[in-house]
Amino acid sequence: MSKKTGKTKRRVRKSGTKKVFNKYELYLESVQSPETDVEFFQNTYRELRKKTPHSFREDFCGTFAMCTEWVKLNPKNTAYGLDLDPEPLEFGRLHHLSKLSDTQKKRVHPVEQNVMQSRVPLTDIVVAMNFSYFIFQSRELLKKYFSTVLKGLQRDGLFMVDIFGGSDCCDENEEKTNYRKFAYFWHQHGFDPVTARAKFSIHFQLKGQRKIEDVFTYDWRMWSIPEIREIMLEVGFKKTHVYWEGTDKKGEGNGVFTRTEKGEECQAWVAYIVAER
Ligand SMILES: C[S@@+](CC[C@H](N)C(=O)[O-])C[C@H]1O[C@@H](n2cnc3c(N)ncnc32)[C@H](O)[C@@H]1O
Repeated sequence: MSKKTGKTKRRVRKSGTKKVFNKYELYLESVQSPETDVEFFQNTYRELRKKTPHSFREDFCGTFAMCTEWVKLNPKNTAYGLDLDPEPLEFGRLHHLSKLSDTQKKRVHPVEQNVMQSRVPLTDIVVAMNFSYFIFQSRELLKKYFSTVLKGLQRDGLFMVDIFGGSDCCDENEEKTNYRKFAYFWHQHGFDPVTARAKFSIHFQLKGQRKIEDVFTYDWRMWSIPEIREIMLEVGFKKTHVYWEGTDKKGEGNGVFTRTEKGEECQAWVAYIVAER
């Protein structure tokens, strides 16, 4: 998707010239910024709890790129990544875990598990990023998921999710972003105002090759910030906070997220919601 944000500022690695189509590598380069994300999680915990967090859980972790960045931040840090699908987990073991030192490797735990049935140790932080929890399309399911998260947090734990919206999200549209070696397409297939459901696809096209459509597809409910905050409070979180992105001189997102109770109208925005246990 087109995010206003520096949070997902696209980073194309200079190394790696192979023209093999590797969907998880292209996904990482186009929609993820795990190094920046983990710093935000650590700083936000310090801001709200006045201490340093060490244990971290990444729900819907895919290739668990954030887990591997988390353990690099501090030798005391541990990380659990939960995903249902063995394929991205295996990619993460081969491509992310393998790059860590032996001591770092021991502190990362990728687990093939449904986030609804988390059985990993309690952690200081749980995150659900890249809007993965939008797969839960009813309040009932979302409440069940948020309750599971609450039970999985340490006493001072924080739950952090990202969320997107804006007028662009109510229309069929496709946006192309060019990188050095490939193009990334974020395609929204309409929006149903009755159900607030929208389908999305990611397409990729390597330079000089044909476009490969629907590499990743999503069928999501477009939740709003107040709905998510209300549901968090309903399941027992004590407080919620919204972190909204600042704007640079050109009117683009500057990648700096600050706590606020007032947003601004944008065609496309991304924000974080943080819930206190
Ligand atoms: C959009 S990807 C997110 C990848 C990564 N976390 C990120 O930030 O980009 C969604 C992932 O959620 C996983 N998933 C979907 N439903 C799940 C569930 N109930 N429990 C665990 N993982 C699930 C999928 O297998 C997929 O890898």
